Amino acid sequence: MLCSLVFQVLLIFAKEDSQSDGFWWACDRAGYRCNIARTPESALECFLDKHHEIIVIDHRQTRNFDAESVCRSDDHEEASVLPLLHAGFNRRFMENSSIIACYNELIQIEHGEVRSQFKLRACNSVFTALDHCHEAIEITSDDHVIQYVNPAFERMMGYHKGELLGKELADLPKSDKNRADLLDTINTCIKKGKIHKIHRDSGDNSQTAPSLQNRRYPSMARIHSMTIEAPITKVINIINAAQENSPVTVAEALDRVLEILRTTELYSPQLGTKDEDPHTSDLVGGLMTVSDEEKPECRGTTSNVHQSHSHLAMPITINDVPPSIAQLLDNEESWDFNIFELEAVTHKRPLVYLGLKVFSRFGVCEFLNCSETTLRAWLQVIEANYHSSNAYHNSTHAADVLHATAFFLGKERVKGSLDQLDEVAALIAATVHDVDHPGRTNSFLCNAGSELAVLYNDTAVLESHHTALAFQLTVKDTKCNIFKNIDRNHYRTLRQAIIDMVLATEMTKHFEHVNKFVNSINKPMAAEVEGSDCECNPTGKNFPENQILIKRMMIKCADVANPCRPLDLCIEWAGRISEEYFAQTDEEKRQGLPVVMPVFDRNTCSIPKSQISFIDYFITDMFDAWDAFAHLPALMQHLADNYKHWKTLDDLKCKSLRLPSDS
Ligand SMILES: *[C@@H]1O[C@H](CO)[C@@H](O)[C@H](O)[C@H]1NC(C)=O
Ligand SMILES: *[C@@H]1O[C@H](CO)[C@@H](O)[C@H](O)[C@H]1NC(C)=O
Ligand SMILES: *[C@@H]1O[C@H](CO)[C@@H](O)[C@H](O)[C@H]1NC(C)=O
Ligand SMILES: *[C@@H]1O[C@H](CO)[C@@H](O)[C@H](O)[C@H]1NC(C)=O
Repeated sequence: MLCSLVFQVLLIFAKEDSQSDGFWWACDRAGYRCNIARTPESALECFLDKHHEIIVIDHRQTRNFDAESVCRSDDHEEASVLPLLHAGFNRRFMENSSIIACYNELIQIEHGEVRSQFKLRACNSVFTALDHCHEAIEITSDDHVIQYVNPAFERMMGYHKGELLGKELADLPKSDKNRADLLDTINTCIKKGKIHKIHRDSGDNSQTAPSLQNRRYPSMARIHSMTIEAPITKVINIINAAQENSPVTVAEALDRVLEILRTTELYSPQLGTKDEDPHTSDLVGGLMTVSDEEKPECRGTTSNVHQSHSHLAMPITINDVPPSIAQLLDNEESWDFNIFELEAVTHKRPLVYLGLKVFSRFGVCEFLNCSETTLRAWLQVIEANYHSSNAYHNSTHAADVLHATAFFLGKERVKGSLDQLDEVAALIAATVHDVDHPGRTNSFLCNAGSELAVLYNDTAVLESHHTALAFQLTVKDTKCNIFKNIDRNHYRTLRQAIIDMVLATEMTKHFEHVNKFVNSINKPMAAEVEGSDCECNPTGKNFPENQILIKRMMIKCADVANPCRPLDLCIEWAGRISEEYFAQTDEEKRQGLPVVMPVFDRNTCSIPKSQISFIDYFITDMFDAWDAFAHLPALMQHLADNYKHWKTLDDLKCKSLRLPSDS
């Protein structure tokens, strides 16, 4: 490595003379590159460009400094050379223009200081690299005494560098079972000589060179590189450290804490398997987890997901909204707005009409700088891609979620926490959030090996599809591209926010989203009320992290707000979702697929029970948290009333939507 380097020498001489010539020719003989600078300025410029290894500065012209006498006088050497050393000089050369003298000087510098500088520099880079390496690395002497460990090694072994250096691995205290096992494994491997040793091979080093033992534990290393940046890793490390000096009982308790922390399902409640309410576990199984009992066994791609992008309806002209519709929409800002009446009066186009009204109320066209014609075309395309044949997930559900979102956006706390871009993103997200929904759950699609499940690796299949398709439909045709007039940066931010919200509707992450909201929004708010001299506002506009949590919570609540609607609307929605689930169960039976939600069997299902479970498990906590933030007394009242309705029916062993006498 060193041999291939070409040394560069910079001569700083105010005047060319025999001395500078001497160095010049010496460089020529030694094969160094040489530059000459006449002024300090040009010297600096030249050095910054080339980074010479050796710089020779002519010091003979200094009036009050007789270099020669200084250097010749042994008595005063220390006192007189020090200032030069302090100034950054590290060698002096007595005037001698003989090329031999110059050559000898340069060669000595090269083989002495310059080369050792290079080695130091290389050494530093190697250790920097080792320090940042995600794999645990230690360097031991040949007799196994530890000379170096990198941070990954410290993390993996749970020891501090200070505890390790100078010790033999075998001698370390084994306070913890796992660490002891790991140490034993490493030691056995070393003893057996199994571990790949990389000897430093720098040619001139002999037996004394330490051996670099790079211990590769592929799975360990992988785990470390995966979690290395995660806050949970820090937490686990802190607890590990705390365990060290804790009494046994505390250490054991912390062991259990670690056990819990290490599971990935931090935010999902653990359901007992046996004595659990079947409605709850079915909902959880059907909505939250991908059934792993039967992986798609090569069913091919004969999916029954019908892609219906092409059935765009005839363009309806809605320049003049019929008075009946306009009149209905006057009440659109009320929570009790009847979306089913809108569905009927618009001939199943509730999304276009409600969309036009709501988007205009929030100034969406102005924000996007697009015409109302474009917006109208966009709403039509999106609505046309909802499946009218779905009992629940058709465009009326989308309109309902848009309605709830707009309602939430009107709440003071929500409005005060979000920017207009967030509002626009939320309205768009609500509109598209279930587009092209096939009327089947993620679990079903995965079990059936549908094209979409294959495409999205069984992960957030529907939600990924809704977002992806929404953007495809939007940008495909400029006539309906509501984003065409906004600049790239706005578009990117808006797009990110929309994607994030639609993906947040996936139920697998339900508890994660709710708990994050509670921890980051509700709890700080409660603390603020208690110690109310604090003016900090954790939900303010300057907290993008919190804005994201608020937006996710908002669309999640809007998506499942049915149990918080007035009773008759709540009942209609319950009927529709049950019907859609029944249809899925029917099809699963027909096709011999696993039945993901067996309680949703039209022959046996108790709708009140399923609603009670859904409310208990998913709704109550979430709306408590959302209400604590957004203040929604009307919703909470409806929720209580509706819950009572289902309870009453269930107590009477009624399995349908209403008491026979009521209907
Ligand atoms: C200059 O260096 C040469 C070669 O090392 C040496 O022979 C000569 O004596 C030196 N001259 C002086 C004046 O020191
Ligand atoms: C709005 O879009 C039009 C093109 O439709 C463009 O000419 C105009 O500059 C845009 N205005 C703003 C504020 O971006
Ligand atoms: C939605 O599904 C219901 C059946 O549950 C149906 O009556 C209604 O017309 C559908 N709405 C739209 C917009 O397709
Ligand atoms: C699905 O998994 C494959 C293989 O791991 C990967 O290449 C692909 O990007 C994944 N697709 C999606 C949509 O995540």
